[in-house]
Amino acid sequence: MKRKVTKAVFPVAGLGTRFLPATKSVPKEIMTLVDRPLIQYAIDEARAAGIKEFIFVTSRGKSALEDYFDRAPELEAALETKGKQDLLEALEQTYMESGAIAYIRQHRPLGLGHAVWCARRLIGDEPFAVMLPDDVIAGEKSCLQQMVEAHEETGGCMVAAMEVPPSRTSSYGVLDVKEGNGRLMRLRGMVEKPAAGTAPSNLAVIGRYILTPQVMENLNRMKKGAGGEIQLTDAIADELVAGRDVFGYQFEGDRFDCGSKSGFLQATVAFGLSRPDLRDELARYLDNLMAHRNAAQ
Ligand code: G1P
Repeated sequence: MKRKVTKAVFPVAGLGTRFLPATKSVPKEIMTLVDRPLIQYAIDEARAAGIKEFIFVTSRGKSALEDYFDRAPELEAALETKGKQDLLEALEQTYMESGAIAYIRQHRPLGLGHAVWCARRLIGDEPFAVMLPDDVIAGEKSCLQQMVEAHEETGGCMVAAMEVPPSRTSSYGVLDVKEGNGRLMRLRGMVEKPAAGTAPSNLAVIGRYILTPQVMENLNRMKKGAGGEIQLTDAIADELVAGRDVFGYQFEGDRFDCGSKSGFLQATVAFGLSRPDLRDELARYLDNLMAHRNAAQ
């Protein structure tokens, strides 16, 4: 019988240097799109996919993340006194059942594969999801849920995939596809950050994974890959070498690269425009701005 995927690992140990100075004292994952931190989008997506246990791989300077998912008795009391029911409801999404959330530290920045490996004892012998909160995906059905449904049919490992321009493949893990069947593809290989002109396709890995516990065993080998780091992509590709299945899944939805400034700005505008309470004013502002820009050109 296939095991249900109920655990997700969130690698959140990165320094967020691309957003300095903001990230000097604020973890990147707490930066907000409209009024919710990046991490909340990932948690909501995980919950919608049936995840019940949330494992954060953190590092020094990330305590704001732990506080975010804790109760805030003084704030709650103040809001109660003022009768701010709507704000109390807004806090609901930040509450976690006790014992459902765990924090593990990655003591040294040795790569994404190493970060995931740090969670091995909490994962044990179960399939698990990995979610990179930098990749924010908007869509009718959560990306991870789409993958969980596809995974119920396939088993094995599965990575989210998206076409990117050939000039961008060297920033991603890239898929070598054996055969495709609509959104679902069976893979032959995967390469992390291939040098320009050597990518096996223009299908990039996006930060959603469903992995078997064997991947943790592959990570035990601590093999260094692209950039001298222990790469998750390599540990997944090792499954193919061992003759086990790995699938790519081209999800439905809009993905924003919130690890980059321009992606973060685009996500801010897109999420602002999708909010009934903000969209009219924001759209008017953008229309005016563009009209002025075009007139000035
Ligand atoms: C990581 C993964 C890469 C993947 C990317 C998706 O890279 O190593 O395979 O394509 O996330 O966002 P990073 O962006 O951390 O360099």
